[in-house]
Amino acid sequence: MAQSNSIKTICVHSGTIADSQAHGSISPIFPATSHAYLDLQKKAYPRYFNTLNQEALALKLAALEHGESGLIFSSGMAAISAVLLSFLKKGDHAVIQQKLYGGTSNFISNCLADFAIEHDTTGGLAVTDFTSCLRENTRLIYIETPSNPLLEITGLQAVAGLAKSRDILTIIDNTFASPVNQNPLDFGIDIVVHSATKYLSGHSDICAGAVIAGRANIEKIMPRAVNFGGSLNAQTCNLLERSVKTLVLRVTQQNQNAQAIAEFLLENPKIEQVNYPGLQSHPQHDLAKEQMHGFGGMLSFVAQSGVDIVALQKNLQLIKPSMSLGAVESTICSPALTSHALLSREQRLAEGISDNLLRLSAGIEDVDDLIADLQQALEKKG
Ligand SMILES: Cc1ncc(COP(=O)(O)O)c(C=O)c1O
Repeated sequence: MAQSNSIKTICVHSGTIADSQAHGSISPIFPATSHAYLDLQKKAYPRYFNTLNQEALALKLAALEHGESGLIFSSGMAAISAVLLSFLKKGDHAVIQQKLYGGTSNFISNCLADFAIEHDTTGGLAVTDFTSCLRENTRLIYIETPSNPLLEITGLQAVAGLAKSRDILTIIDNTFASPVNQNPLDFGIDIVVHSATKYLSGHSDICAGAVIAGRANIEKIMPRAVNFGGSLNAQTCNLLERSVKTLVLRVTQQNQNAQAIAEFLLENPKIEQVNYPGLQSHPQHDLAKEQMHGFGGMLSFVAQSGVDIVALQKNLQLIKPSMSLGAVESTICSPALTSHALLSREQRLAEGISDNLLRLSAGIEDVDDLIADLQQALEKKG
């Protein structure tokens, strides 16, 4: 499928495997882990990331992110760790954006040093914060925008420009935006990673990851990916391929719902602060407008100090207190107890993650019902 197709068409059609046996209109599932090899050029094996269902899904995601090629992993962290350890070796240095998903921060702060890889975490998200961390041996810059859970925005063009001028690789976690809302490769970022467990899957029933980039970078990642072995089986690839068909429809609705919920919370006296890039009050609203097609389905908010955030979550009847995000059902969580639980309280407070912060993932339900649910839970006493 040519890349000039619109995103909705890419979601439905790109990568589909022709069903030459039954002539069905969807990709058949090829679950084999053992394939013939004599007289064949391709040595197919699931851990080599080269079976038909893996390749079909990789093609679809590459088209969605405007990349040349992709790899599908068994989780977002399998993708992130494989990419970082493909480009960093002993003695190298990495510049890491402050305020990342907690699992990524934990991997970087606990594991890189064991491989004698140095890193610096930026003091902020402005390009000058990245510049001041650069060293002679800096090999890559790693960013996440909008960031989890504060929805802060990093300038894609500025960071990509800085890195290119120094011949440094750039990697972005594009999970929160999804390819519907943001295409970082168009701004000069080299590699996109996703926790496909979130928006790409969208139904809270798949754990997967993806990497999309130019062909040359994917070829550099492939050997480590094969060594680490974090590939995805054919059945789950096929289920994810099906999920992505409705990605635009889901994310468009989630964007609208998140905007309306953020505006509602902004007016509520029990809420101290609302973080959503679609709000005029968001400090980087203009930057978000420049680099995003939509502001996303994620928002976070700080409840006033008297509000019991555990009781608030328990009082919700529709919105589920739940880990993870990006699904058709709305969910809410306390980052201090979930995504950022691996950080110490001091680390969390230093990153702006207060104990009273809640992160909300807007689903595709009727937004009036979601707002009514929040309203009644906020009105309850405890
Ligand atoms: C932004 C972001 N990146 C990466 C991950 C890790 O993904 P996974 O849980 O699929 O390994 C998560 C998980 O919550 C996430 O929120």
